[in-house]
Amino acid sequence: MPDNVPRLELQGVSKKFGKTSVLDRIDLKVMENEFFAILGPSGSGKSTLLRTVIGIERPDEGKILINGKDVTDLPANKRNLSVVFQSYALYPNMTVYQNIAFPLKMRHLTPEAIKKRVLPTAERLGITDILQKNVTKISGGQKQRTALARALVREPAIFLLDEPLSNLDARVRFRAREELRSLQVGLRQSFVYVTHDQFEVSNIANRVAVLHNGKFEQISSFKELYEYPETKWVGDFIGNYPMNFLPASMVAGDGTEGEAGFRTEWIEVSDSGIDCEVQSGETVGDINFLYCVKDDSHFIVKHDRYVEPGSRLKCSVGRCNLYVDGKLVKKDILGQQQR
Ligand SMILES: Nc1ncnc2c1ncn2[C@@H]1O[C@H](COP(=O)(O)OP(=O)(O)OP(=O)(O)O)[C@@H](O)[C@H]1O
Ligand SMILES: [Mg+2]
Repeated sequence: MPDNVPRLELQGVSKKFGKTSVLDRIDLKVMENEFFAILGPSGSGKSTLLRTVIGIERPDEGKILINGKDVTDLPANKRNLSVVFQSYALYPNMTVYQNIAFPLKMRHLTPEAIKKRVLPTAERLGITDILQKNVTKISGGQKQRTALARALVREPAIFLLDEPLSNLDARVRFRAREELRSLQVGLRQSFVYVTHDQFEVSNIANRVAVLHNGKFEQISSFKELYEYPETKWVGDFIGNYPMNFLPASMVAGDGTEGEAGFRTEWIEVSDSGIDCEVQSGETVGDINFLYCVKDDSHFIVKHDRYVEPGSRLKCSVGRCNLYVDGKLVKKDILGQQQR
Protein backbone atom coordinates (compact mmCIF):
# COMPACT_ATOMS: atom_id res chain seq x y z
CA MET A 1 0.00 0.00 0.00
CA PRO A 2 1.66 3.28 -1.07
CA ASP A 3 2.10 5.90 1.67
CA ASN A 4 0.23 8.60 -0.20
CA VAL A 5 -3.08 6.70 -0.12
CA PRO A 6 -4.96 7.83 2.99
CA ARG A 7 -5.73 5.01 5.42
CA LEU A 8 -9.09 6.67 6.04
CA GLU A 9 -10.81 9.25 3.92
CA LEU A 10 -14.17 10.98 4.33
CA GLN A 11 -15.60 12.86 1.38
CA GLY A 12 -18.48 15.22 2.08
CA VAL A 13 -20.01 13.10 4.83
CA SER A 14 -23.28 14.46 6.22
CA LYS A 15 -25.58 13.03 8.86
CA LYS A 16 -28.88 14.27 10.20
CA PHE A 17 -31.03 12.99 13.04
CA GLY A 18 -34.52 14.11 12.11
CA LYS A 19 -34.09 17.74 11.22
CA THR A 20 -30.93 18.22 13.25
CA SER A 21 -27.78 18.27 11.16
CA VAL A 22 -24.98 16.67 13.21
CA LEU A 23 -22.32 16.29 10.50
CA ASP A 24 -22.22 18.78 7.68
CA ARG A 25 -20.15 17.75 4.62
CA ILE A 26 -17.13 16.52 6.54
CA ASP A 27 -13.88 15.99 4.60
CA LEU A 28 -11.02 14.18 6.25
CA LYS A 29 -7.85 12.27 5.40
CA VAL A 30 -5.90 10.19 7.90
CA MET A 31 -2.51 9.09 6.64
CA GLU A 32 -0.24 6.11 7.34
CA ASN A 33 1.09 6.12 10.93
CA GLU A 34 -0.79 9.26 11.76
CA PHE A 35 -2.29 9.97 15.16
CA PHE A 36 -5.31 12.02 14.21
CA ALA A 37 -7.44 13.56 16.94
CA ILE A 38 -11.02 14.76 16.69
CA LEU A 39 -11.68 17.29 19.40
CA GLY A 40 -14.97 18.95 20.18
CA PRO A 41 -17.27 19.85 23.04
CA SER A 42 -19.91 17.44 24.28
CA GLY A 43 -22.66 16.95 21.71
CA SER A 44 -20.60 18.24 18.78
CA GLY A 45 -20.99 14.96 16.87
CA LYS A 46 -17.70 13.17 17.60
CA SER A 47 -19.22 9.79 18.40
CA THR A 48 -21.62 10.11 15.48
CA LEU A 49 -18.65 10.68 13.20
CA LEU A 50 -16.88 7.63 14.55
CA ARG A 51 -20.01 5.48 14.38
CA THR A 52 -20.42 6.52 10.76
CA VAL A 53 -16.84 5.51 9.98
CA ILE A 54 -17.33 2.16 11.71
CA GLY A 55 -20.57 1.49 9.86
CA ILE A 56 -23.02 1.63 12.78
CA GLU A 57 -24.56 4.78 11.29
CA ARG A 58 -25.08 5.33 7.59
CA PRO A 59 -24.20 8.78 6.20
CA ASP A 60 -27.02 10.64 4.42
CA GLU A 61 -24.47 11.92 1.94
CA GLY A 62 -20.81 11.40 1.13
CA LYS A 63 -18.34 8.56 0.97
CA ILE A 64 -16.04 6.70 3.34
CA LEU A 65 -12.85 5.16 1.98
CA ILE A 66 -10.47 2.81 3.79
CA ASN A 67 -7.09 2.28 2.12
CA GLY A 68 -8.52 3.93 -0.96
CA LYS A 69 -11.50 1.56 -1.18
CA ASP A 70 -15.07 2.83 -0.93
CA VAL A 71 -16.65 1.10 2.10
CA THR A 72 -19.75 3.29 2.41
CA ASP A 73 -22.02 0.35 1.62
CA LEU A 74 -20.04 -2.29 3.52
CA PRO A 75 -21.34 -3.59 6.86
CA ALA A 76 -19.35 -2.81 10.01
CA ASN A 77 -17.75 -6.26 10.28
CA LYS A 78 -16.26 -6.01 6.77
CA ARG A 79 -14.39 -2.75 7.34
CA ASN A 80 -11.32 -4.05 9.19
CA LEU A 81 -11.37 -1.35 11.87
CA SER A 82 -10.73 -1.76 15.57
CA VAL A 83 -12.64 0.34 18.03
CA VAL A 84 -12.11 1.08 21.70
CA PHE A 85 -15.18 2.63 23.24
CA GLN A 86 -15.40 4.77 26.33
CA SER A 87 -17.12 1.93 28.18
CA TYR A 88 -14.49 -0.61 26.97
CA ALA A 89 -17.37 -3.06 26.36
CA LEU A 90 -15.45 -6.03 27.78
CA TYR A 91 -17.24 -9.38 28.10
CA PRO A 92 -17.82 -9.62 31.85
CA ASN A 93 -18.03 -13.41 32.18
CA MET A 94 -14.60 -13.92 30.61
CA THR A 95 -10.99 -13.63 31.69
CA VAL A 96 -8.61 -11.03 30.32
CA TYR A 97 -7.12 -13.69 28.04
CA GLN A 98 -10.52 -14.76 26.70
CA ASN A 99 -11.48 -11.15 26.06
CA ILE A 100 -8.35 -10.48 24.03
CA ALA A 101 -8.68 -13.79 22.19
CA PHE A 102 -12.34 -13.30 21.32
CA PRO A 103 -12.04 -11.55 17.93
CA LEU A 104 -9.50 -14.17 16.81
CA LYS A 105 -11.78 -16.98 17.90
CA MET A 106 -14.51 -15.40 15.80
CA ARG A 107 -12.14 -15.67 12.86
CA HIS A 108 -11.68 -19.38 13.61
CA LEU A 109 -7.97 -19.22 14.34
CA THR A 110 -6.54 -22.29 16.09
CA PRO A 111 -5.89 -22.04 19.86
CA GLU A 112 -2.14 -22.17 19.11
CA ALA A 113 -2.35 -19.30 16.60
CA ILE A 114 -4.46 -17.30 19.04
CA LYS A 115 -1.92 -17.79 21.81
CA LYS A 116 0.86 -16.60 19.50
CA ARG A 117 -0.91 -13.29 19.03
CA VAL A 118 -2.38 -12.76 22.51
CA LEU A 119 0.79 -13.34 24.55
CA PRO A 120 3.08 -10.77 22.87
CA THR A 121 0.27 -8.20 22.83
CA ALA A 122 -0.40 -8.72 26.54
CA GLU A 123 3.33 -8.46 27.16
CA ARG A 124 3.54 -5.16 25.31
CA LEU A 125 0.70 -3.74 27.36
CA GLY A 126 2.05 -5.07 30.66
CA ILE A 127 -0.96 -7.25 31.51
CA THR A 128 0.63 -10.71 31.30
CA ASP A 129 0.20 -11.34 35.03
CA ILE A 130 -3.56 -10.73 34.96
CA LEU A 131 -4.44 -12.80 31.89
CA GLN A 132 -6.29 -15.41 33.94
CA LYS A 133 -8.29 -12.90 35.99
CA ASN A 134 -11.93 -12.24 35.35
CA VAL A 135 -12.34 -8.72 33.88
CA THR A 136 -14.75 -7.73 36.63
CA LYS A 137 -11.85 -8.13 39.09
CA ILE A 138 -9.33 -5.76 37.49
CA SER A 139 -8.76 -2.01 37.80
CA GLY A 140 -9.94 0.69 35.39
CA GLY A 141 -6.47 1.10 33.94
CA GLN A 142 -6.18 -2.65 33.41
CA LYS A 143 -9.58 -2.72 31.74
CA GLN A 144 -8.44 -0.02 29.38
CA ARG A 145 -5.32 -2.00 28.48
CA THR A 146 -7.37 -5.16 28.00
CA ALA A 147 -9.70 -3.31 25.62
CA LEU A 148 -6.67 -1.94 23.74
CA ALA A 149 -5.12 -5.41 23.55
CA ARG A 150 -8.36 -6.85 22.19
CA ALA A 151 -8.38 -4.13 19.52
CA LEU A 152 -4.68 -4.68 18.75
CA VAL A 153 -4.72 -8.44 18.13
CA ARG A 154 -7.05 -7.92 15.20
CA GLU A 155 -4.32 -6.06 13.30
CA PRO A 156 -6.78 -3.57 11.90
CA ALA A 157 -6.26 -1.05 9.10
CA ILE A 158 -7.00 1.74 11.57
CA PHE A 159 -7.60 2.16 15.26
CA LEU A 160 -10.55 4.20 16.38
CA LEU A 161 -10.77 5.32 19.98
CA ASP A 162 -13.75 7.12 21.45
CA GLU A 163 -12.78 8.83 24.71
CA PRO A 164 -10.93 5.72 25.92
CA LEU A 165 -9.59 7.40 29.06
CA SER A 166 -12.65 9.18 30.35
CA ASN A 167 -13.54 6.46 32.85
CA LEU A 168 -10.18 6.66 34.60
CA ASP A 169 -9.41 8.87 37.55
CA ALA A 170 -7.09 11.80 36.98
CA ARG A 171 -3.90 10.16 38.25
CA VAL A 172 -4.28 6.91 36.31
CA ARG A 173 -5.37 8.92 33.32
CA PHE A 174 -2.08 10.79 33.19
CA ARG A 175 -0.18 7.49 33.07
CA ALA A 176 -2.58 5.93 30.60
CA ARG A 177 -2.07 8.90 28.30
CA GLU A 178 1.69 8.42 28.38
CA GLU A 179 1.27 4.70 27.73
CA LEU A 180 -0.99 5.33 24.81
CA ARG A 181 1.55 7.65 23.29
CA SER A 182 4.43 5.18 23.53
CA LEU A 183 2.14 2.46 22.24
CA GLN A 184 1.29 4.45 19.13
CA VAL A 185 4.94 5.31 18.51
CA GLY A 186 5.85 1.62 18.82
CA LEU A 187 2.97 0.40 16.68
CA ARG A 188 3.38 2.79 13.78
CA GLN A 189 -0.29 2.54 12.89
CA SER A 190 -3.01 5.04 12.10
CA PHE A 191 -5.13 6.18 15.04
CA VAL A 192 -8.27 8.26 15.11
CA TYR A 193 -8.75 9.46 18.65
CA VAL A 194 -11.94 11.21 19.67
CA THR A 195 -12.13 13.32 22.80
CA HIS A 196 -13.53 16.47 24.38
CA ASP A 197 -10.34 16.84 26.46
CA GLN A 198 -7.67 18.76 24.58
CA PHE A 199 -4.96 17.77 27.08
CA GLU A 200 -5.39 14.12 26.14
CA VAL A 201 -4.19 14.84 22.63
CA SER A 202 -2.09 18.01 22.89
CA ASN A 203 1.17 16.04 23.09
CA ILE A 204 0.20 12.96 21.12
CA ALA A 205 -1.65 14.00 18.00
CA ASN A 206 0.08 14.73 14.72
CA ARG A 207 -3.02 16.66 13.71
CA VAL A 208 -6.14 17.75 15.54
CA ALA A 209 -9.48 18.47 13.90
CA VAL A 210 -11.75 20.74 15.93
CA LEU A 211 -15.41 19.81 15.47
CA HIS A 212 -18.01 22.51 16.04
CA ASN A 213 -21.54 22.81 14.63
CA GLY A 214 -21.07 19.77 12.42
CA LYS A 215 -17.97 21.11 10.68
CA PHE A 216 -14.25 21.08 11.23
CA GLU A 217 -13.42 24.55 12.39
CA GLN A 218 -9.67 23.91 11.99
CA ILE A 219 -7.37 20.97 11.21
CA SER A 220 -3.75 21.49 12.24
CA SER A 221 -1.11 20.59 14.81
CA PHE A 222 -2.07 21.38 18.39
CA LYS A 223 0.65 24.05 18.53
CA GLU A 224 -0.91 25.76 15.54
CA LEU A 225 -4.37 25.57 17.15
CA TYR A 226 -2.95 27.19 20.23
CA GLU A 227 -0.86 29.92 18.64
CA TYR A 228 -2.86 30.62 15.51
CA PRO A 229 -6.50 29.66 16.04
CA GLU A 230 -8.26 30.27 12.75
CA THR A 231 -11.41 31.48 14.46
CA LYS A 232 -12.16 33.24 17.73
CA TRP A 233 -14.20 30.18 18.69
CA VAL A 234 -11.12 27.95 18.47
CA GLY A 235 -9.06 30.54 20.37
CA ASP A 236 -11.62 30.44 23.12
CA PHE A 237 -11.93 26.63 23.18
CA ILE A 238 -8.21 25.78 23.12
CA GLY A 239 -5.83 26.41 26.00
CA ASN A 240 -6.01 26.50 29.77
CA TYR A 241 -7.29 30.02 29.32
CA PRO A 242 -9.23 31.42 26.41
CA MET A 243 -7.37 33.63 23.98
CA ASN A 244 -7.73 37.32 24.86
CA PHE A 245 -9.20 39.76 22.37
CA LEU A 246 -8.94 43.55 22.34
CA PRO A 247 -9.65 46.11 19.61
CA ALA A 248 -6.62 45.93 17.31
CA SER A 249 -6.23 49.73 17.33
CA MET A 250 -5.56 49.56 21.07
CA VAL A 251 -2.82 46.95 20.74
CA ALA A 252 -1.24 47.47 17.34
CA GLY A 253 -1.74 51.20 16.76
CA ASP A 254 -4.44 53.56 15.57
CA GLY A 255 -6.31 52.71 12.45
CA THR A 256 -5.82 48.96 12.62
CA GLU A 257 -9.20 47.36 11.92
CA GLY A 258 -10.42 44.24 13.69
CA GLU A 259 -9.37 42.57 16.90
CA ALA A 260 -6.00 41.56 18.27
CA GLY A 261 -5.94 38.02 19.67
CA PHE A 262 -3.24 37.11 22.19
CA ARG A 263 -2.45 34.44 24.74
CA THR A 264 -2.08 35.32 28.39
CA GLU A 265 1.66 34.60 28.37
CA TRP A 266 2.19 37.03 25.49
CA ILE A 267 1.34 39.93 27.81
CA GLU A 268 3.89 41.66 29.96
CA VAL A 269 3.36 44.02 32.82
CA SER A 270 5.36 47.14 31.96
CA ASP A 271 5.49 50.85 32.67
CA SER A 272 4.21 51.72 29.25
CA GLY A 273 1.38 50.07 27.40
CA ILE A 274 -2.32 49.62 27.92
CA ASP A 275 -3.70 51.01 31.12
CA CYS A 276 -6.28 48.66 32.64
CA GLU A 277 -8.01 47.89 35.89
CA VAL A 278 -7.46 44.71 37.88
CA GLN A 279 -10.89 43.28 38.72
CA SER A 280 -9.79 40.25 40.63
CA GLY A 281 -6.75 38.14 41.26
CA GLU A 282 -6.03 34.51 41.92
CA THR A 283 -2.81 32.93 43.19
CA VAL A 284 -1.80 29.46 42.06
CA GLY A 285 1.59 28.39 43.44
CA ASP A 286 3.91 31.28 42.65
CA ILE A 287 1.89 32.60 39.73
CA ASN A 288 -0.80 35.26 39.98
CA PHE A 289 -3.63 35.41 37.50
CA LEU A 290 -5.01 38.90 37.25
CA TYR A 291 -8.39 39.43 35.62
CA CYS A 292 -8.10 42.81 33.97
CA VAL A 293 -10.60 45.03 32.18
CA LYS A 294 -10.05 47.73 29.59
CA ASP A 295 -13.21 49.47 28.41
CA ASP A 296 -15.53 46.50 27.78
CA SER A 297 -12.82 43.92 27.12
CA HIS A 298 -11.50 41.43 29.64
CA PHE A 299 -8.21 39.62 29.63
CA ILE A 300 -6.06 37.57 31.97
CA VAL A 301 -2.52 38.60 32.89
CA LYS A 302 0.00 36.26 34.53
CA HIS A 303 2.14 38.18 36.95
CA ASP A 304 4.76 37.37 39.58
CA ARG A 305 3.12 39.71 42.07
CA TYR A 306 -0.37 39.73 43.49
CA VAL A 307 -2.18 42.96 42.74
CA GLU A 308 -5.16 44.13 44.79
CA PRO A 309 -8.47 44.28 42.94
CA GLY A 310 -9.28 47.86 42.01
CA SER A 311 -5.62 48.73 41.29
CA ARG A 312 -4.47 49.88 37.91
CA LEU A 313 -1.89 48.07 35.83
CA LYS A 314 -0.03 48.77 32.61
CA CYS A 315 0.35 45.90 30.17
CA SER A 316 2.04 45.51 26.86
CA VAL A 317 1.21 42.82 24.35
CA GLY A 318 4.37 41.35 22.86
CA ARG A 319 2.75 39.27 20.20
CA CYS A 320 -0.69 38.96 18.63
CA ASN A 321 -2.73 37.85 15.62
CA LEU A 322 -5.31 39.89 13.75
CA TYR A 323 -8.96 38.77 13.58
CA VAL A 324 -11.70 40.28 11.43
CA ASP A 325 -15.30 39.08 11.75
CA GLY A 326 -14.11 36.35 14.11
CA LYS A 327 -11.62 34.92 11.61
CA LEU A 328 -7.83 34.96 11.59
CA VAL A 329 -6.63 37.25 8.79
CA LYS A 330 -3.00 37.79 9.77
CA LYS A 331 -0.56 35.98 12.06
CA ASP A 332 1.90 37.79 14.32
CA ILE A 333 1.08 41.37 13.47
CA LEU A 334 3.31 42.32 16.39
CA GLY A 335 6.29 40.04 16.12
CA GLN A 336 6.67 36.61 17.55
CA GLN A 337 8.15 35.33 20.75
CA GLN A 338 11.53 33.68 20.69
CA ARG A 339 11.27 29.90 20.26
N1 LIG B 1 -29.32 8.03 17.48
C1 LIG B 1 -29.54 9.34 17.64
N2 LIG B 1 -30.77 9.87 17.43
C2 LIG B 1 -30.98 11.19 17.57
N3 LIG B 1 -30.05 12.10 17.92
C3 LIG B 1 -28.80 11.63 18.16
C4 LIG B 1 -28.47 10.24 18.03
N4 LIG B 1 -27.16 10.09 18.31
C5 LIG B 1 -26.70 11.32 18.60
N5 LIG B 1 -27.67 12.25 18.49
C6 LIG B 1 -27.50 13.70 18.71
O1 LIG B 1 -26.44 14.14 17.88
C7 LIG B 1 -25.64 15.09 18.55
C8 LIG B 1 -24.19 14.62 18.58
O2 LIG B 1 -24.09 13.49 19.43
P1 LIG B 1 -22.72 12.73 19.65
O3 LIG B 1 -22.97 11.59 20.57
O4 LIG B 1 -22.13 12.41 18.32
O5 LIG B 1 -21.85 13.84 20.37
P2 LIG B 1 -20.39 13.75 21.03
O6 LIG B 1 -19.59 14.84 20.42
O7 LIG B 1 -19.87 12.37 20.91
O8 LIG B 1 -20.69 14.13 22.54
P3 LIG B 1 -19.97 13.58 23.91
O9 LIG B 1 -18.69 14.36 24.05
O10 LIG B 1 -20.95 13.95 24.94
O11 LIG B 1 -19.75 12.11 23.77
C9 LIG B 1 -26.25 15.29 19.91
O12 LIG B 1 -27.05 16.44 19.87
C10 LIG B 1 -27.07 14.04 20.12
O13 LIG B 1 -28.17 14.31 20.94
MG1 LIG C 1 -19.28 10.88 22.32
